[in-house]
Amino acid sequence: MAIAIMCSGGDAPGMNPAIKRFVDYAYLKGNIPYFIYNGLEGMIDDEIKQAYHKDVSGILHRGGAIIGSSRSKRFFEKKYRQKAYENLKKNDINSLIVLGGDGSFRAMDIFSKEFNINFIGIPATIDNDIAFNDYCIGVDTSLNVIRDATDKIRDTASTFKRGFVVEIMGRECGYLCATSAIACGAEICMIPEVNLDLNLAKIKLNKEIKNGRGYVLCLISEGVNKTDFMVDWMSENLGLETRKSVLGYIQRGGNPTITDRLMAFEFIVRAIDSLKIDDTNKVIVYKDGVFDKININNIVSKPYQIKQNILNMLNYID
Ligand code: F6P
Repeated sequence: MAIAIMCSGGDAPGMNPAIKRFVDYAYLKGNIPYFIYNGLEGMIDDEIKQAYHKDVSGILHRGGAIIGSSRSKRFFEKKYRQKAYENLKKNDINSLIVLGGDGSFRAMDIFSKEFNINFIGIPATIDNDIAFNDYCIGVDTSLNVIRDATDKIRDTASTFKRGFVVEIMGRECGYLCATSAIACGAEICMIPEVNLDLNLAKIKLNKEIKNGRGYVLCLISEGVNKTDFMVDWMSENLGLETRKSVLGYIQRGGNPTITDRLMAFEFIVRAIDSLKIDDTNKVIVYKDGVFDKININNIVSKPYQIKQNILNMLNYID
C-alpha cells in the first residue's frame, strides 16, 4: 500500500521526528511511503515523491518540517481539490496522513467526503486547540521556549522594577498562555476563555506593590488582542514603567524536546496501523493519558476547551 504524508498549516517542532518515523515504520510494515511537499498547495501542484530512508537521516533534532507546509486558499475550491485527487491517483495513493491543526482537518473532512481517500489526522500545532485531545505535537517545545523567554524577561523586570506584558501565540486558544502563566508565575494572565476582572487585579497588585513587590509580569494571549492596552493599563493603574515583548515565531521553532519526539513516534505508528486496518477518516488523539481515534466529523464540529483544572489554577485573583 502506498501511504503519503503531508504537513499543513503552521509548522510545529516534532514534525520532523514524525516524518522520520513515518518513512521507517512504513517500510518496516511493507508499505511505500510518499511525501507531499508544501502541504495542500503541493498536493494541488503534484509535488509528490516516494520517500527513502536517506531523505530522513539526520532530521530528528530539527524544528520545522523538511517537506514544507502551507496554508492553502485554493484547496477550498472544488476544481483544485479535484486536481489534488487526480495527482494522488496518478501516484496510486489513496491513504494519507496529515500533520496539522483544525483548519487542515476541516479541509481533509471535505476532501475525504468528496473523493475516495482514506485519511488519518495527527494533531500537530503549537496552539493545542484540537477537540477531544490533550496534546498536539509541538506544544512541549513551544512551552519550553516560552518558559525560557519569560524567565529571562523576569530578570529585567525585577532588576528595573518594571511591568512587562508578554504576548503569547495560540490564536483564539489560551492554552499556551495559561499553562505558561501558571508555570512561570505570571501575576496577570489574560486568555480569550476567561474574562479577568481588572478592578480586582488592580486592588490585589497594588496591595502587593505597597508591601514591596517590585515588578509585575502579564502574560497575554494574542487572541485577546489587548497587548498595547495592557501596557498602558499597567503603567496607569500600577504605576510601573511597562514594556511589551511579543514572543512571535520563536514559539514555533527550535529543536523538538524529547516529549515531542516520543509523542510524534507514537502518533505516527498509530496512524499507519489504522490505515492498514482500514479504520480511517479519523484523527488520532491523546486524552487523559491514552491514545484514541475520533471521527473527523466530531473533531471539526466541536471546539477545544481548556481543562477545568488548568483554569482553576489561574483563579488566583480573589
Ligand atoms: O497556528 C499556529 C500559529 O503560530 C498561531 O499561534 C498563530 O496565530 C498563527 O499560526 C500565525 O500564522 P502564520 O504562520 O500564518 O503567520
